[in-house]
Amino acid sequence: MTHPYLSVEQLTQRYPNGSGGEMTVFENASFGVEKGEFVVIIGHSGCGKSTIMSILAGLAESTEGVVIMDGAEVSGPSLDRGVVFQNYSLLPWLTTLKNVTFAVEARHPNWSKDQVLEHSKKHLEMVGLNGDVFNRKPSQLSGGMRQRVSIARAFAISPKLLLLDEPFGALDALTRGSIQDELLKVWAGTDQTVFMITHDIDEAILLADRILLMTNGPYARVAESVYITIPRPRNRTEIVEHPNYYAIRNHLVQFLGKRSKELAGPTGLVENRPETVHFDNTATIAKTKKSSVAV
Ligand SMILES: Nc1ncnc2c1ncn2[C@@H]1O[C@H](COP(=O)(O)OP(=O)(O)OP(=O)(O)O)[C@@H](O)[C@H]1O
Ligand SMILES: [Mg+2]
Repeated sequence: MTHPYLSVEQLTQRYPNGSGGEMTVFENASFGVEKGEFVVIIGHSGCGKSTIMSILAGLAESTEGVVIMDGAEVSGPSLDRGVVFQNYSLLPWLTTLKNVTFAVEARHPNWSKDQVLEHSKKHLEMVGLNGDVFNRKPSQLSGGMRQRVSIARAFAISPKLLLLDEPFGALDALTRGSIQDELLKVWAGTDQTVFMITHDIDEAILLADRILLMTNGPYARVAESVYITIPRPRNRTEIVEHPNYYAIRNHLVQFLGKRSKELAGPTGLVENRPETVHFDNTATIAKTKKSSVAV
């Protein structure tokens, strides 16, 4: 049996519930991610998205189950996995520039100082940071700026797996749009695998190859895997005209509004794998167009 590049196998996470018992966040969750794939995970607050990401990053241990990446079990952090956290996690005593050079030096110990500096500055500039911001400490930056430093740092180490936990949450719409475009550019030129959490459906459709939908917790699970059947390169203004766009979007809205709750609760199965959802309206639309011409 061939395994996907990243394989999450029967993952369970339980935490003490604060009153002597325990709470099951998710149970026996299994899914895979192919090499080079861009996967986005969506689900209501508290269903366990960040917990899954911390386990993928090797920063938290699951109660049961394993994560296998490129044939090896994930057990601890690695520079092969770059993370942008919900809370940015910059080193507060280092300047903006040093927060990035520190990571680049660790990734490329043989690079000269100039190489490290040039590479780090390039990635900070890519997310719209430059000038005196380089010398400021995180406490002297706005939330959006801190988030951008964190994104630049993750991009700069070109990890095999890029883990992004609501990476654009603190950004204004304009900056968000331009950094989404940068992310797509960075990703398109590599065989990097991306696993990203967002609450923004339109962002998810624009960026993802596939969207994983989680039911509400406790006992949350990845219930569906929705393929974004819209060709790349995608453009935020044209994407809405694709015949599959609204079918996908409506499906996601329905899931979050209704089915994430209806499907909630334990399944009792030893393995919970998502169902595949694949929309293709292109043939129907082509037919309709043809017949309307004939009429
Ligand atoms: N260290 C911990 N100890 C106890 N409970 C925890 C711990 N970390 C997370 N939880 C609980 O696990 C559940 C899932 O948390 P998680 O942060 O993964 O959710 P999330 O899907 O990322 O939510 P959000 O969209 O709000 O970021 C929540 O009920 C949370 O309270
Ligand atoms: Mg979270």
